[in-house]
Amino acid sequence: MTRTISGFSKLSKRQKIEWLAANFFEDPAAAEQTLTAWRRPDEQQQNIIDGFTENAVSNYTLPFSVAPNFMINGKAYAVPMVIEESSVVAAASSAAKFWLDRGGFHAEVLGTVKLGQVHFRWGGNPARLRALFPALKAHLFATSADLTANMRQRGGGLQEINLLDFTHLEPEYYQLRASFETCDSMGANFINSVLERFGNQLEHFIETHPDLSDKDRDVEVIMCILSNYTPNCLVRAWVECSEAELEDLARDAGLPGHAAVDRICTAVRIAGIDPYRATTHNKGIFNGIDAVVLATGNDFRAIEACGHTYACRNGQYRSLSRAWVERGVFRFELEIPLPIGTVGGLTALHPLAKQALELLGNPSAPELMMIVAAVGLAQNFAAVRSLVTTGIQQGHMKMHLTNILHHLGATAAESTAAQDYFCRETVSFSAVRTFLERQRSNGF
Ligand code: MEV
Repeated sequence: MTRTISGFSKLSKRQKIEWLAANFFEDPAAAEQTLTAWRRPDEQQQNIIDGFTENAVSNYTLPFSVAPNFMINGKAYAVPMVIEESSVVAAASSAAKFWLDRGGFHAEVLGTVKLGQVHFRWGGNPARLRALFPALKAHLFATSADLTANMRQRGGGLQEINLLDFTHLEPEYYQLRASFETCDSMGANFINSVLERFGNQLEHFIETHPDLSDKDRDVEVIMCILSNYTPNCLVRAWVECSEAELEDLARDAGLPGHAAVDRICTAVRIAGIDPYRATTHNKGIFNGIDAVVLATGNDFRAIEACGHTYACRNGQYRSLSRAWVERGVFRFELEIPLPIGTVGGLTALHPLAKQALELLGNPSAPELMMIVAAVGLAQNFAAVRSLVTTGIQQGHMKMHLTNILHHLGATAAESTAAQDYFCRETVSFSAVRTFLERQRSNGF
């Protein structure tokens, strides 16, 4: 048995599976069977998926779900969501329906600027570099014009380049920070290509500049890469209605008058005070956001990284949403940077991402930003609403019941009986097991 290998990527898929099955699994035949069974039977479809990453040996399947009834800026959407957590889609759908009768969701894009950086070392006089910078900037604009031409034609491109001096924190360290408009694409490849050109041209400019002495010609580019923190690629989504329109919320929870609204606002303020609660609160927002981002073929790690940095932009990690009542009007609002795209990358390659975008009416990137933010807000509303009224376990475990039944190998008849029984009882793993044991010993 050998658990390391060289040249794994060169093996055929069959050989990869055989090697894994033989070396890592107690039952190699069963392992081979599982890895093979989850592949697409249609070879052409499978080839598309295999092309996404190196060393693909099977497919990891998640449900492609839909949350209907999202009214956003007066337009109705059925929103595609890809997520494994059982209660998320149900919660989004219920919040969408709730707000459908109260004016729906509102959203606006506050900016679409993306950023990239060239990090470099230069040992000369900082004032000298500052003096040279206008000429360097013009040089970088000119020498990247071929790369930005297409984007400029679409209304975007390179917008600005700034020089930042960090020599007080790290000897000789400077940064070029460039801003971009990438239209409907997320733009990562575009930005990174332009930045690498900047890196080469920065070296060329300094090394050949006639006004610089030999000792000032030493420049070292450390790295060129986009920044996933894009605070000016920002969207705001909100819901609002009169407090009176929320009275049934309190009534359903057996609370007096405006108590539910008051508790919601307090819960959101708590997430603005305490980072431990803020992390969970924002995780609830990302339950919705990630699911749509993933369904539409976007990079959910980029979105998460950006959102969490934004959540601590003032020095402490806080809630991304806010809720308050003013003159009898309740408003619940989410502001979040969402650098996403609707063209390029996986959006056109993955058949279901393509389908997801079509389901949304093939939106522009700004429209998708508004949809995603609305779903994040819906998810946050649903979670906080449950937390301050019934608690989340009741709904969550009801949704989780199906998973527990599958895990315990329940038959269709046993599942139907269990669904019926647990309408009235608290769901837990042991309660479901006891229920099934009782059923089986009674000869059902
Ligand atoms: C669970 O996935 C998400 C929640 O914990 C979010 C929250 O607490 O606000 C319910």
